Amino acid sequence: MIKQPAYDTLYGGNPPHGISQQPLIINVCLSGNLANRKINPHVPGSIQEITDNAAAVIEAGASILHVHAYDAADEPTWRPEIFGRIFENIRADHPDAVLVATTSGRIHTEIEKRSAVLELDGKAKPDMASLTLTSLNFPKQASVNDPETVQELCLRMRYRNILPELEAFDLGMLNYAFYLQRKGLLPQRCYINLLLGSLGTVPGRVLDLANLVREIPEGWTWAAAGIGRYQLPINTAAITMGGNVRVGLEDNPFYNFSEREPARNETLVKRIVRISRELGRTIATPQETREQLQLGNRNNWEATQAKIRKMKPEDMDGVMAILSKWNMAPVQASPDIPAPERDRIDIDNTFVAELQGQLVGVSSYILLDKTHAETASLAVEPDFLGCGIGSQLQETRLAELRNRGIHHVRTESDRPDVIHWYVHKFGYTITGTNPKKHSFGDPNRDHWTVLEFDLNSR
Ligand SMILES: CC(C)(COP(=O)(O)OP(=O)(O)OC[C@H]1O[C@@H](n2cnc3c(N)ncnc32)[C@H](O)[C@@H]1OP(=O)(O)O)[C@@H](O)C(=O)NCCC(=O)NCCS
Repeated sequence: MIKQPAYDTLYGGNPPHGISQQPLIINVCLSGNLANRKINPHVPGSIQEITDNAAAVIEAGASILHVHAYDAADEPTWRPEIFGRIFENIRADHPDAVLVATTSGRIHTEIEKRSAVLELDGKAKPDMASLTLTSLNFPKQASVNDPETVQELCLRMRYRNILPELEAFDLGMLNYAFYLQRKGLLPQRCYINLLLGSLGTVPGRVLDLANLVREIPEGWTWAAAGIGRYQLPINTAAITMGGNVRVGLEDNPFYNFSEREPARNETLVKRIVRISRELGRTIATPQETREQLQLGNRNNWEATQAKIRKMKPEDMDGVMAILSKWNMAPVQASPDIPAPERDRIDIDNTFVAELQGQLVGVSSYILLDKTHAETASLAVEPDFLGCGIGSQLQETRLAELRNRGIHHVRTESDRPDVIHWYVHKFGYTITGTNPKKHSFGDPNRDHWTVLEFDLNSR
């Protein structure tokens, strides 16, 4: 069967439908910064107001609720107990609704505060949590999301099996999501909101949306949000393009932007439902949304994480293929090469990295005596460089060497970036150079740099 390409890209046939037959997932950002209340009295703030408003939008057709919480003084709060009460209240009547907790750092910047809501359990636990992918400027305020914080939030969501609600305000942020996924910090099938039209982000034109959407990987679920005046046109474009929508007062307080008529979340949702039905798309139920997003499915996270394990005999071809790509495959002794740099892979002393059934890396070692070893044959499939796989392979073999009573390791390397990596990341010391015996490793270098490392020093 010919595979249907994503998003009606050209493939030489007629698209089967004029519009996507995928039910539309409606995500409602009920409230955000409470300054909104000055221009719109319908923005919900108290636990009761948020609970009631959640019920109203779910009954109108929403299946995902993006929730901010507030303290008794109406100020945004990170306190998990307040989120927990809101979630428990909503679930009492709408157990399948998909509940998203904000981890926004606009007001509370510390990682412990931002991530506290991820620790909730039972009916108080969020299904999803927002994750703004990088820093950006809003018109009058910065949203700072440094790489360390973003990666730590990913790790905590992964640990708690909470699906990120990715937020991308431009193409670079989307690209950063792919980087995080390559590092195993995001699940395989992600949910992403594309937010257009704020000052300092991607503009709110349909072509800008199309430009983002064409980069969305197959299997991901995307929704589009327009800020302010862009909400309705961007939502409508997303419906026709086969995506989903995020709508609500956090992004836009007005029903009719030009007349500045204050909106209610439920009327915004009802308008989207009407438009979608007119265009021929049904509305996803909360249960359908759960299935589409694979909520709670650990395998969705596992699928992007390389596993390090001992090599098996049947891995030999895959290991050789990776080593060959770096000109590091062992060769037999011959009249031309009487003393090869490597003449075999010792399966018992070798680890491999496996990702979705594919071998993507290898590391090995050779015991020299009871306390000395040489680390050898470390290589990562070129497409997977920079994903942390080399570090995991290196750490795993060092741990095994320590367990075997080895005190001292040496290695030889010829690539300056790799030598730098051994020295700065693992604390090796350069102790000399050796001429190469034949063309092995980087063909442009005729000698090895010898690196040594005392295992007891770490
Ligand atoms: C050495 C080698 C195994 C490292 O593998 P790796 O999976 O890329 O290693 P890691 O991702 O753990 O670390 C690479 C570092 O470079 C950074 N990096 C980012 N993008 C990168 C890219 N495109 N390519 C390489 N490194 C990149 C990584 O972020 C990481 O930095 P960090 O540890 O500070 O986060 C790999 O470069 C390799 O196979 N080299 C060729 C074979 C070789 O020379 N082997 C050593 C023989 S002694």
